Amino acid sequence: MISINPTNVYPFLSAQLIQQQNARVSAAHEMLISGTGPGNDFIGWLNPNEVAPNALLDEVVATAAHLHAFADKLVVVGIGGSYLGTRAVVDALSVNPDSVTYAGQNVSAAYHARLIKTLDQDDYVVNVVSKSGTTTEPAVAFRVILDHLVSKYPTSTSERVVATTDKHRGALRQLAIQNGYKTFPIEDSIGGRYSVLSPVGLLPIAFAGIDIHALVKGATDMYAFCNQSDISQNPVLWYVATRNLLMQKGINIEVLASFEPRLHFLLEWWKQLFGESEGKNGLGLFPASVEYTTDLHSMGQYMQDGRRFVMETFLRVESGEPDLLVPDGNPVDELSYLVGRGLSDINEAAWKATATAHANGGVPNLTLNIPTLDAYHLGGLIYFFERACGISGYLMGVNPFDQPGVEDYKRGMFSLLGKPGAAKGDNDRPEATYIQFG
Ligand code: PA5
Repeated sequence: MISINPTNVYPFLSAQLIQQQNARVSAAHEMLISGTGPGNDFIGWLNPNEVAPNALLDEVVATAAHLHAFADKLVVVGIGGSYLGTRAVVDALSVNPDSVTYAGQNVSAAYHARLIKTLDQDDYVVNVVSKSGTTTEPAVAFRVILDHLVSKYPTSTSERVVATTDKHRGALRQLAIQNGYKTFPIEDSIGGRYSVLSPVGLLPIAFAGIDIHALVKGATDMYAFCNQSDISQNPVLWYVATRNLLMQKGINIEVLASFEPRLHFLLEWWKQLFGESEGKNGLGLFPASVEYTTDLHSMGQYMQDGRRFVMETFLRVESGEPDLLVPDGNPVDELSYLVGRGLSDINEAAWKATATAHANGGVPNLTLNIPTLDAYHLGGLIYFFERACGISGYLMGVNPFDQPGVEDYKRGMFSLLGKPGAAKGDNDRPEATYIQFG
């Protein structure tokens, strides 16, 4: 279900050296699956089938159908792990990705004003997602959306809202109880960035018409597949060992590269997963992304020829959509040699050429292949990265399940905004003095 092309790693690391990491990586793996590592109260996502058994999946599908009885547009209110995974899957797979729109992933007035304008026209329902129920951005956005919802649908407001939140605690749980919203629980043991295969992502993904049974089946099969403790049998361990060795050799940045624009938000989700999980105590590969071939005309130069502290992981979809063929035309464009060839063929050639060129330019790179971009394989890929991230954090010696650094800006913001009881933040400085130019 997933394979790795290592050709462009071997000029930088030998296959033998990677295999020699088996004991270290297996120890980190064992720590994760036995629940003996730091943050072990946040490994509830490990077995996808336990997180989303069939009964829950059926309930989610039924709820999505119930919501469709009201409207064909869903506004998902959430941020970070309560947003990116959903969008990654919806954008990658839905035949109608615009059936889901997003609020609360920023606090831009212009963004939300524009959204409200479209909601004036569209019939819509809402899924507000927040584990804590207190995150400022989605909480503010939910107020704005709810205000609109109440005035647009005074008699069906509550039926149009589903809240996905902590089982027992938090402001959103309270609001849901008070207003009689349908709810789905977020388990205590599942952190935001590992939650897409729980009701957090599954409800909006089902609403967008995606087969969530297949998505979870793909993750479950990957779970079984990557339980092996030998690097040569387990692609997750191979990936973790390789990126860790490259980091030890001075690589600071891992760029995830795709040739498929529908994967834009999968790259964004991956950046959150690895950035928030590994980036602590002065450690971690900085996760970046590029979308080729678009970015070959912008970042391509740097990748080929800039400072050599980058590794690249290509995401390759082997085959997919019905192809578009290059039509016959005026030979003046010198494209006659391509007539009748598929655009996919050209894209494939671009991947091969880029991977080789970047390796020749000093960028170690590997390619993760999935056979096709469907719910089953995307579920497997998501799980692959989650599992890799957990192991990788332990291999580096960090807790991959907390995010203490995220709190710092929040303290400063609450202090600046005058939240009652907020501690004075470090960044609560007097109004900045700007340097005026011109
Ligand atoms: O991965 C995480 O834990 C974070 O990105 C959270 O998902 C994000 O901060 C949103 O939190 P909440 O769901 O509590 O609103």
